[in-house]
Amino acid sequence: MVTGEAGSGTRALERLERLYTIGSGDGANRPGLSREEQEACELTAGWMRDAGLDVRWDPGGNLLGALPGSRPELPEVWTGSHLDSVPRGGRFDGPLGVVAGLEATAALARRGPFERTVCVVAFRDEEGSRFGMGCFGSRALCGEVEKEELELRDREGRTRHAALRAMGLELPLGGWLDRAPGVFLEAHVEQGPRLAEAGAPLGLVAGIAGLARGSATFIGAPGHAGTTPMAGRDDALCAAAAFVLAVRQAASSIPGAVATVGAIAVEAGAANVIPGRAVATVDARAPSSETFDRLTDSVAAAAAHAGGGLELRRKEPVSMAPGPTGVLRRELERLGLPAPELASGAGHDAGILAAAGVDTAMLFVRSLAGGVSHSPEELTSEEDVVLCVSVLEAALARLAGAASPR
Ligand code: HGY
Ligand code: MN
Ligand code: MN
Repeated sequence: MVTGEAGSGTRALERLERLYTIGSGDGANRPGLSREEQEACELTAGWMRDAGLDVRWDPGGNLLGALPGSRPELPEVWTGSHLDSVPRGGRFDGPLGVVAGLEATAALARRGPFERTVCVVAFRDEEGSRFGMGCFGSRALCGEVEKEELELRDREGRTRHAALRAMGLELPLGGWLDRAPGVFLEAHVEQGPRLAEAGAPLGLVAGIAGLARGSATFIGAPGHAGTTPMAGRDDALCAAAAFVLAVRQAASSIPGAVATVGAIAVEAGAANVIPGRAVATVDARAPSSETFDRLTDSVAAAAAHAGGGLELRRKEPVSMAPGPTGVLRRELERLGLPAPELASGAGHDAGILAAAGVDTAMLFVRSLAGGVSHSPEELTSEEDVVLCVSVLEAALARLAGAASPR
């Protein structure tokens, strides 16, 4: 049985709890590029310094803690995830990958030296709940943030550009992947029930589903709810409702596909006014290029049939790299653990780096409580966190050219 470095699990759980208490309200509430996310990053930067890592912020506000290697000219080995959350999020989605990566790297610092620099990274605004587009920090690194995106506004009307300026950041749009990491490992809770059903504490990720995110806009004829006959009404919300049900029907008929309309903004938004405008959010995902194309075609057809205008941004399905995935698999086997390989329905920063050509792998950690996530009920055991740290430490050591791999 593996025993992580004494107290690593306890310390990790304490740090996850500390991060969870940032902000107010039920659950985790750390919107991207917000004061709360910044507070989580600064708290983590302190833990990185305590572990003896060199702390820096990159031009996108991403936080990095580096354990310098003996051959700094070699591409680095990165591990990490994100510290922002969805509204009313859980303790583990994001922070687990940063906290476990920090525990593993701190353990390496006690073993060193290694050839390659090992970096723990916290990418900004992975969830995208505030401005509508996720994986901001990892996309900024890879030069995939377009100028128009900086004008996206949050519910208070504040632009992403203003939020970055308030952090003292002027984003270079070309990215800075010139000193790309040679490999990136992201540990993340599975956010589903499959590892628990398989009795596996940890798992590997074959690939990340394609994700189409955007909105469908329906324009109707506003009118008096009491004096306008039913015949001849042009009710924008009824058109949107037809779209929502058609999207559900389409996703249900395609293997592995999922699609969600999470919010509908209605104008005028009053009980006695026939809606003149309705904007429905769209989040559509599928595991392969073939199913992803079928799904997005069906969503477009549903919007057209309901008389709506559709705007979708696509992130294609992406596979994890066999090299680092094999290193994780060997560590699981060395510990006598099962090594199930899953497709990820959730998006991750790992998907952005993989698509940008960085050798990327993910280590899934069992979700308990039926796999619930994006909820305060999110749950993972301390034992599984300790196992995650142990496997991560061994894999990082092997990838970093350990002086004495375990
Ligand atoms: O939405 C997602 O898949 C991730 O949680 N950002
Ligand atoms: Mn996440
Ligand atoms: Mn998430």
